[in-house]
Amino acid sequence: MVSVVTIKVDETFKRDAAIGEIAARLGVRAERGRRFAELTSLRVGGAIDWVAVPDTEEQAAGFVNELDKIKIAWRPLGSGSNVLADDGEHHYVIVSLKELKADPIFDGERVSVSAGYSLPRLCIDAARHGLSGIEGLNGIPGTVGGALWMNAGAFGQEIGTVVESIRVARDGRVIEIPGSEVKWNYRHTSFREGELLLGTTLLLRPDDVEKIRERMEEAKGQRMSTQPHGARSAGCFFKNPPDSAGTGRIIDDLGLKGSRRGGAVVSEKHANFIVTEGEDAKASDALELAEEIRERVKREHGIDLEYEVEVWRSENR
Ligand code: EPU
Repeated sequence: MVSVVTIKVDETFKRDAAIGEIAARLGVRAERGRRFAELTSLRVGGAIDWVAVPDTEEQAAGFVNELDKIKIAWRPLGSGSNVLADDGEHHYVIVSLKELKADPIFDGERVSVSAGYSLPRLCIDAARHGLSGIEGLNGIPGTVGGALWMNAGAFGQEIGTVVESIRVARDGRVIEIPGSEVKWNYRHTSFREGELLLGTTLLLRPDDVEKIRERMEEAKGQRMSTQPHGARSAGCFFKNPPDSAGTGRIIDDLGLKGSRRGGAVVSEKHANFIVTEGEDAKASDALELAEEIRERVKREHGIDLEYEVEVWRSENR
């Protein structure tokens, strides 16, 4: 028994030393002792082995390549506004893209922007340049990378429709792939785990600045009046099933607004939002509440709700 423990400790030690060495060699800031509760908008979730924070797209590409070579698992994270990580210990490296946030470069109808840039800021910048196509996405509290990963959408617009090209990490380098090579579905894309999105060039349409601003304000106003803001949420929790009244309406009609499990509550404002409250809220509270909702909807309507938030399990890596 003692020898098994010794081998494990030894392996962990070697792995940590290797990660530390790669980060130092490539000049990537690497932090220990962080928790998902600090890095996600739901403010829940357990300990993370390492959080690496590259400063440039090239550095990020080089870093994940080194990890891949020695088979160390990693996962990219933007602003953590669509992630529910469980309460366990997550033994993988989080590659935080939040420092890839250089000012976007506008060139005619195109804008090139890195993955860590704020999506709402990009919407405002584009409007200022008289460019239309993403004004409906204003107010989605995420990064450009996260929006690309899941084809973020709102108010009739989806980011995938305006993507000309995407920069991804391949074999340690930054390469550009056409947006047309990606499948852009409802809140889902053909990107695979292990793929790191570093930036994009969007092709937008010129329009009157005031008209774009008006549409942007309208979208923001609607969002403020129908969705909780300032609360700890991850946006809509479930996808809308095809040909349905919408998940929010379904959950609302079941009278589940205000239902609570520990520190997780079904929002009174929009029933497809689970919000967390208090210092003691746990990821398991949100997951249990979500499963209760799924069971109820299955029982009463025969519909299998699909998670829209990404659920990250600690034991799977
Ligand atoms: N509704 C209720 N009760 C509720 C919530 C909604 O009756 O508690 C009703 C509304 O009155 C409306 C219908 O359900 O008749 C649809 O609601 P809403 O207009 O709020 O849109 P949604 O389908 O719930 C979708 C996206 C949102 C996006 C909005 C605006 C999904 C799962 N959700 O919400 O995206 O912001 O449209 O375009 O596709 C997200 O992706 O995280 C997200 C919040």
